[in-house]
Amino acid sequence: MLEDVVVLAGSGLNSTKIAKGIAERLTIRYSNLEASTFPDSEIYVRVPVKDVTGKHIIYVQSTAPKEQKQKGKERIPQSQSLMELFLTLDTFKEKKAKMVDIIVPYFAHARQDKEFNTGEIISTRTIAKMLKGLGINRLFTVDVHAHRETGAYQFGRWKNFLGVQAYNITAARALARYIKNDLGIQSPIVIIPDEGHRPIAEKIKDILTPETVIFLYKKRISAKLVRFKRVETLNLKGKDVVIFDDMISTGTTVINASEFAMDKGARNVVVAVTHTLYINDARKRLLKTGVSEIVATDTIPGKDSHVPIAPIIAGSLKEILD
Ligand code: R5P
Repeated sequence: MLEDVVVLAGSGLNSTKIAKGIAERLTIRYSNLEASTFPDSEIYVRVPVKDVTGKHIIYVQSTAPKEQKQKGKERIPQSQSLMELFLTLDTFKEKKAKMVDIIVPYFAHARQDKEFNTGEIISTRTIAKMLKGLGINRLFTVDVHAHRETGAYQFGRWKNFLGVQAYNITAARALARYIKNDLGIQSPIVIIPDEGHRPIAEKIKDILTPETVIFLYKKRISAKLVRFKRVETLNLKGKDVVIFDDMISTGTTVINASEFAMDKGARNVVVAVTHTLYINDARKRLLKTGVSEIVATDTIPGKDSHVPIAPIIAGSLKEILD
């Protein structure tokens, strides 16, 4: 069955490395797809037709923003990788792929999954409509944020995401294993500062055996400002604290959670997240709060990518493909 399966990667951040890692672990063929930009920044894609027609494609395309090397610190926006994703999917369809599964390690726009204020776009829903229209069979995401109206994702279970079969893979167990085995932390106080990330508590409990799990209630005032309803009676004196979230963007959420833990007397604070966008100087500001370690995956590669995502994705795919 696996002779018909081919892994292809787009030019999205770290997508080739992740795709190759998956192909290697599952002993599936990896083939090259050409994706680049024209000088005016329009997108060019060319697929290897013999590896597409009649094949079951596993296409890896991350939609994280990328640092633009030639222009200093400027970022290539998510929309470029998203557009490439759409164009490539259409080509797979035109070239008559038998089946198309897509893996989007970092799923852009997933946080705008609700009409927070009347008239706002629900970006996640629009993307799902595009994916459905382009005829994908299944969508795999990694700790995707969309958990409200559009998806109600649950880990390790197929969901119907506006007509697209979707499966959300979590890195939480691997992050927890790293914290236990490599940092030697056992039975910490776990803090989950974002409501949507609550199901993580169940996932990690047999590995880290937390003494307590604290859910903070966050109110986002703006993109840069969140407020927590704090648990005033808590005493964290001398405790190891691990803060779990899906991502760090501006850092506001985990910075606030770390300050909260420090205020309550924690002796050691570790932050565990799947995706580290680190907008502006988020990493520096977070470390300044006293965090001893940030443990992340390489969906967005960087200094804190201690946990590679390819084996985690491959593990989930194996169960599904076998
Ligand atoms: C909630 O919306 C997410 O789970 C994260 O807490 C959030 O996206 C992190 O964003 P920031 O780092 O800007 O607070």
